[in-house]
Amino acid sequence: MNPTDEKELEKKFQERIDKGEVIEPKDWMPERYRKQLIRMMSQHALSEIVGMLPEGNWITRAPSLRRKAILLAKVQDEAGHGLYIYSGTETLGISREEMVADFFKGKAKYSSIFNYPTLTWADTGSIGWLVDGAAIVNQTALAKCSYGPYARAMIRICKEENFHHKQGYEILAHLMKGTPEQRQMAQDSVNRFWWPALMMFGPHDAESPHSADLLRWKVKLYSNDTLRQRFIDRTVSQAENIGIKLPDPKLKWNEEKQHYDFGEINWEEFNNVIKGNGICNKDRMKSRKQAHDNGAWVRDAAETYAKKHEKNAVSA
Ligand code: 3HC
Repeated sequence: MNPTDEKELEKKFQERIDKGEVIEPKDWMPERYRKQLIRMMSQHALSEIVGMLPEGNWITRAPSLRRKAILLAKVQDEAGHGLYIYSGTETLGISREEMVADFFKGKAKYSSIFNYPTLTWADTGSIGWLVDGAAIVNQTALAKCSYGPYARAMIRICKEENFHHKQGYEILAHLMKGTPEQRQMAQDSVNRFWWPALMMFGPHDAESPHSADLLRWKVKLYSNDTLRQRFIDRTVSQAENIGIKLPDPKLKWNEEKQHYDFGEINWEEFNNVIKGNGICNKDRMKSRKQAHDNGAWVRDAAETYAKKHEKNAVSA
């Protein structure tokens, strides 16, 4: 294709985006748009799958049958979210195998938050309340993004995230009405998860190499800092309602800006974790590798079955 045709196509594509049109898999799209979506969506899917590990760690130790059933349902949902978003990513011409291989080669990232350990039962509460709460802020925006399969996946996922958020908040609310030890456990958990939850929204806008593209193409409808601020503004009162003190002495309502001012994130910690030096990075990789290897026979059996039935269908 000669450069002027490409330029013309890009211009028409941007006009579609500016008009708020939804891009579908078979539509023409700039190669860079496709590559950005593959990067973002495959890492999102991977985050959902790796995100099962921290809470999965507490399924056998849930304090009651009711809590165990709720946690099982939540972790199962995360698996479904991962498969849903992987399927959406495959519409861009990349296979599941390639995306999984990228992870094992250390090429694909997943959300930094999942490299923190779940040391107590209260952590399952902080993850539901803070991590899924942050995901809801991020994903409700993505539900209106320009790429059809991604936006539609988000609509279904956000409904389930709301259940995740509520059950986590209920765990902490319950603990905060408990014994001094239970209240301390809840407070300690939030102390450990608050700042890593803010890191989920990515670096400051000025340090984000991808945001300009993603905002221009309406894959991101808001910047990292805008969504982070939105999450903080809606979470502070929730903490106050159950007596949790958020671990940021600079957190203060700013009447003029109509937002909460907050302290600076430890970006050295953030960069360290995404470089693979977080507390649990190696464990997460090892667990995923083990699960992948243990599941090889299931994938082979399913493939053999599919091939056999395909052959029968053709010869019938
Ligand atoms: N953890 C790991 N990597 C991160 C990160 C984080 N919290 N924030 C940013 N990064 C990485 C980016 O992937 C990028 O690295 P790359 O070039 O190797 O991909 C680099 O840091 C620069 O960051 P940018 O802000 O420029 O990157 P993006 O524009 O992609 O923004 C994002 C980062 C906000 C995470 C965006 O990718 C996004 O919104 N992704 C979709 C949502 C998502 O992935 N959420 C993860 C959590 S899933 C979850 O919580 C599930 C729930 O059910 C528990």
